[in-house]
Amino acid sequence: MIRKAASLCALLVFTLTSVSAQSLPKKITLIKAGRLVDVKNGRVLTDQSILIEDERIKEVGPSKEVASHAPSDAKVIDLSSSTVLPGLIDCHTHVTSQPTNYYEDLFRKSPIDVAVSAHVYARRTLEAGFTTIRDVGAPEFIDVALRNAIDSGAVVGPRMQVATLTVGATGGHGDVTGFSPYLKFGSFSGIADGVNEIRKLIRFEIKNGADLIKLLATAGVLSEEESVGAPQFSQEEMNAVVEEAAMWGKKVAAHAHGTEGIKRAVRAGVASIEHGSLIDDEGIQLMKQKGTYLVADIYNDDYILAEYTRLGYPDKIIEKERKVGRAQRENFQRAAKAGVKIAFGTDAGVYPHGWNAKQFAHMVRWGLTPMQAIQAATVNAADLLSWSDRVGAIEAGKFADIIAVSRDPIADVTVLEHVSFVMKGGSVIK
Ligand code: ARG
Repeated sequence: MIRKAASLCALLVFTLTSVSAQSLPKKITLIKAGRLVDVKNGRVLTDQSILIEDERIKEVGPSKEVASHAPSDAKVIDLSSSTVLPGLIDCHTHVTSQPTNYYEDLFRKSPIDVAVSAHVYARRTLEAGFTTIRDVGAPEFIDVALRNAIDSGAVVGPRMQVATLTVGATGGHGDVTGFSPYLKFGSFSGIADGVNEIRKLIRFEIKNGADLIKLLATAGVLSEEESVGAPQFSQEEMNAVVEEAAMWGKKVAAHAHGTEGIKRAVRAGVASIEHGSLIDDEGIQLMKQKGTYLVADIYNDDYILAEYTRLGYPDKIIEKERKVGRAQRENFQRAAKAGVKIAFGTDAGVYPHGWNAKQFAHMVRWGLTPMQAIQAATVNAADLLSWSDRVGAIEAGKFADIIAVSRDPIADVTVLEHVSFVMKGGSVIK
């Protein structure tokens, strides 16, 4: 009996090693695309095909040519009556949670509540056609755990870059303000004041899995500090954030609504300004000079004004939203017209996950062409993430992250709110 088991084991080992030596057969897929959005050149091609080998794109081109290179047993996906695009990228999400009630979320929920539901939102985001996200702030390294679970295949979700704890000043946008000074939370804190504390916090975040650093350069809307746009770090402190992050090869995304704080962050060398609500002409010129991306969440205002009173948010917060909402959209338009680089980012998590594409219509209404809005969510976003080698276009060598819609998004960008097909890394998700 023992000998039989031993020889079975030996057989198994032999089989496994010989299979891996010959390497497993490759999974080959051929997608027929009626129309294909070539985001790099800003045009739509017809009658194209995409040949996919395992998780990567092997070839893209005219259907006849590409099909002739496909083996006869390739799996064929017929999207010949659809428009095919690269998977979308949202550069500003908080995928680990979404609001239910202001006080309940603050005081009745623990990070464990957040952790157990985060995967639900990740899947929703992916099913909406967002195959990559840059997540810019989460408690307790839940974002790191989620990213790792997705990367290992244990959880279904988009590719993620994560910022971990937002780096902010005492009393600032990342602090819990407006309550008793005796109120203390037993959690990891992203609060740091002065260059030394900032450097130490950034080292701690990177040690624990941060892909980028999120700097809270100014005050914000959804927190109880008085101003919506006052700078919350000195120039010296912001410089230290960028310098320290760069030392570890990481970029910085700066939350900044206010005019002065935007400029400080741009001068410090951040990769992107998030929100950018009250930017002035000097700020616009600085961003152009430095090549800083603007990631403006210009859908949010609709949702906050419609829903946040019902969700129990204090009047002072709703008032702050009224101050920035319209100005942010007008300034987005000015910046876009002036030629500031735009990447798509929505602040999903302020509104329900999976609604990310609702922002496209606003970007078109406020100054971009539909093609430019799509480029913001593909090539430009990939560039901001330093992931141009793997995502953001349908090209040989890149991950097969591919979506499709039934109508023409160049004629009506809102069709991106109803993505009918999603593939991530060669696997069909929807
Ligand atoms: N997280 C941002 C903040 O609290 C949301 C801003 C939303 N409002 C807007 N107009 N974009 O500051």
